[in-house]
Amino acid sequence: MIYSVIMAGGKGERFWPKSRRKTPKQLLCLTNDGKTMIQNSIDRVSSLCSPENTYIVTNKDYAMPINHQLPQIPLGNIVVEPFGKNTAACIGLAAIHIMDKDKDGVMVVLPSDHIIKNNQEFLRILDSATTLAEEGENIVTIGITPSYPETGYGYINFGEKACEKNNKSIYKVERFVEKPDIKKAEEYLESGKYLWNSGMFIWKVSTIMNNIHEYMPRLYEGLMRIKDSINTSTYNEVLYEEYSKFDSISIDYGIMERAAKIFTIPGQFGWDDVGTWTALERVNKPDDKGNIYNGNIVSIDTKDCIIDGTQKLIATVGVENLVIVDTDDAILVCSKDRCQDIKLLLSEMKELK
Ligand code: GDD
Ligand code: MG
Repeated sequence: MIYSVIMAGGKGERFWPKSRRKTPKQLLCLTNDGKTMIQNSIDRVSSLCSPENTYIVTNKDYAMPINHQLPQIPLGNIVVEPFGKNTAACIGLAAIHIMDKDKDGVMVVLPSDHIIKNNQEFLRILDSATTLAEEGENIVTIGITPSYPETGYGYINFGEKACEKNNKSIYKVERFVEKPDIKKAEEYLESGKYLWNSGMFIWKVSTIMNNIHEYMPRLYEGLMRIKDSINTSTYNEVLYEEYSKFDSISIDYGIMERAAKIFTIPGQFGWDDVGTWTALERVNKPDDKGNIYNGNIVSIDTKDCIIDGTQKLIATVGVENLVIVDTDDAILVCSKDRCQDIKLLLSEMKELK
């Protein structure tokens, strides 16, 4: 049986001030289809698994809004973490819940805040990925051909072709490198031997648990204690206790950089991780002056700007390359080439995150 696991506990800080502590990026509607990112993430795989086989892992602040946005997902499938400990713990927690139900299950682990334009092609790739994952102790990733030296992604150094499944070529992974510096990222791009890691993972529950056992033994031990408490009155207490002890580490650093037997399927399906405000230029079509507007905006001689704010009229004259975002209690004015630094801005703030 196939289970989808949607990771939905991230903060999406670079989308401040629209993305906030209580309403992170995945709960926002950033496209013009009227759906939030997490709603789209679930819709995308609804033909792959039923709501009963769809799990969402998140923290307690987001559990209720998620339940509200996705009433079709059984409440019991919204797995709540007492606090975020990054994606290794998140994936491990989902794995033990699925294991409790079906120890031979295959997990399709997906982020909650990406955009995919060609869903049919994406589903074809997932079909190949789940077939390969079911066949053995295989870790399957989906790689994207890089177009610039992004330092916010993981890179997959692929080797020889391993096989073909459902008409898709599958390659062995030589090495996985999470978030390299710019120099390395440029080298990888140049070499033609690297793909971007799309942040999606496909494996059997037993495969990921064996890998956690081997490479993150402390996490494994804690997860086993939590597993033993599922369906007992001590679950929340044990969960809290163990989570307090977990290191905050991503699956990419904790497992992917170390594991053997990783495969990758290169895919082209209009993927975008919508990392910063400027990504909106790729997902929404700019007007003839290169602007993207959301809200009541009046502008003269305004070029290549992203302006968002539905509460007040926003008026601009003679500006270019700016991101302007208005919310209830905060306004952002940011040069378009500094959008990555919004994260730094947040570390300067005590309140209003
Ligand atoms: N439940 C839960 N708990 N979810 C989390 C947590 C957590 O503690 N931390 C992050 N997430 C969720 C986020 O909401 C997002 O959907 C997903 O996990 C990935 O986390 P990010 O924080 O967005 O990771 P990243 O973008 O820095 O890097 C990952 O994605 C890149 C592609 O977008 C890595 O896998 C990279 O290798 C990859 O290139
Ligand atoms: Mg991300």
